[in-house]
Amino acid sequence: MTVAIEMGQTTAGAAAAMDLEELLATRLLVQGNSGSGKSHLLRRLLEQSAPWVQQAIIDPEGDFVTLAERFGHLVIEAEDHTERGLQVAGERARLHRVSTVLNLEGLDAENQMRRAAAFLGGMFDVDRDHWYPMLVVVDEAQLFAPAVAGEVSDEARKLSLGAMTNLMCRGRKRGLAGIIATQRLAKLAKNVAAEASNFLMGRTFLDIDMARAADLLGMERRQAEAFRDLERGQFMALGPALSRRPLRLNIGPTDTSPRNSTPRLLPLPEATLEDARAVILAAPPPDASRPQRRPAPDLLEQLRAAKAATPEIRPETVEVPVSAEELAERRERVDRTLRAVLAEPDAGFRAIGVLYQEFVVRCRIEGLGSAVPDLNEFRRMLTHARAGLGTDLAEDDAWQDVSLRASILPDDMQGVFMMIARAAKEGWPCPGDAAIARAYGSHSLRRAQRLLGYMEEQGLIVCQLDGGGRRIVTLVELAWATAPGDPNGDDLPAEQVASAASA
Ligand SMILES: Nc1ncnc2c1ncn2[C@@H]1O[C@H](COP(=O)(O)OP(=O)(O)OP(=O)(O)O)[C@@H](O)[C@H]1O
Ligand SMILES: [Mg+2]
Repeated sequence: MTVAIEMGQTTAGAAAAMDLEELLATRLLVQGNSGSGKSHLLRRLLEQSAPWVQQAIIDPEGDFVTLAERFGHLVIEAEDHTERGLQVAGERARLHRVSTVLNLEGLDAENQMRRAAAFLGGMFDVDRDHWYPMLVVVDEAQLFAPAVAGEVSDEARKLSLGAMTNLMCRGRKRGLAGIIATQRLAKLAKNVAAEASNFLMGRTFLDIDMARAADLLGMERRQAEAFRDLERGQFMALGPALSRRPLRLNIGPTDTSPRNSTPRLLPLPEATLEDARAVILAAPPPDASRPQRRPAPDLLEQLRAAKAATPEIRPETVEVPVSAEELAERRERVDRTLRAVLAEPDAGFRAIGVLYQEFVVRCRIEGLGSAVPDLNEFRRMLTHARAGLGTDLAEDDAWQDVSLRASILPDDMQGVFMMIARAAKEGWPCPGDAAIARAYGSHSLRRAQRLLGYMEEQGLIVCQLDGGGRRIVTLVELAWATAPGDPNGDDLPAEQVASAASA
């Protein structure tokens, strides 16, 4: 059986495939300057081969943790474990044949090297009975196998270079197929690069890297000049698993995206900050205690549970108010006042300014004169209330994540996003256009549709229609999806109405 991994298309338009069995018997080196598309290429390769073969990814930037959601990789936060713990984890991952992402984000160079070495060592040293084939991907390989000594200790460098040399030179017999990517070939230890027999060469600017690439590929240096003209996502392929002659190809799209994607341009907030100087330059709050570290969980347990692994959410620091009771009581009265304002017929369609004035008056009547939320706070509360959200959600970790995502949208869209998010979280039917328009303070159904389109463009949601023309909205990254809902249905699903009423 041969398994062909589709990497993309040749510049002539033919499918460009990689022979997985051949790859497992050899090794692959990917090089290209920053932004040439190496990590994208690795992701494509990992996604396409995930159903066929076990994988381990040494991930210095935490780029690949998003593979977990779709493909069930176990994410190991290297920060949380000792070297010994990671070595054992490497062994166990092979024993149990679980695909893993070793997230080294946040560690200094010395610790990245030590921990990657420990994990690779564990995989390498496993008993002969467990030498099943697997792909071992190392992104930014020059960090782990540097050509020259850097500022890290000699010991760390020796450990890491040793592990990388083992992977690339002696790994094959043990079933480990090394796939390494680097920005700068000239910065990668020569003996590690030299073992690769498959190459994907991306855009390269520096002469010294080009010369190294030409030497490795057995090309004339003049020929290697072509690497300068490659576009992002374009690579020159050569090797037994790829092509017998240098072949230019475009890497195809991926299903998942890196967690740290390129920043997008976002509209600036519409409301102007009344006193920018006072807000920005206010005295810093007293040093909040650092978030408590989660205790390191037992790795074997984790490995067993790996298939059910869900994305991790770090605990947030919670500021404890000085007089919690008093605040809670005041908050309750403010909430009650807001509900009263919103209970007015047509409240959903009145301008925020008008609603706010009425709210302020009622607050004064309630004796809340000094504690009236300002307009921005009012906007936020309104957003929540219109989305039918109770305060219980504020405690929910996954929900914090939703609020964070919502914050990239203009204020007045956040409520709609959260209303949909709520439906998706609970698996309720997707709200109809009329309900969406109302939450946006509008009668226009077209506007509701445009709103969804905008959120989709921002990469927050994906909208689909099922066979019956009913709409399903999926929240990107969280992978929560609404049940199918009729876009022309004239009101919120019953569950959401009930929840809004009790909010
Ligand atoms: N084939 C492709 N199709 C579409 N987008 C791509 C493709 N290749 C890369 N990109 C996009 O280009 C940007 C840079 O790609 P990528 O992060 O893979 O570069 P890189 O070579 O890993 O850079 P670095 O060395 O800085 O990590 C990313 O936003 C990525 O999504
Ligand atoms: Mg990269």
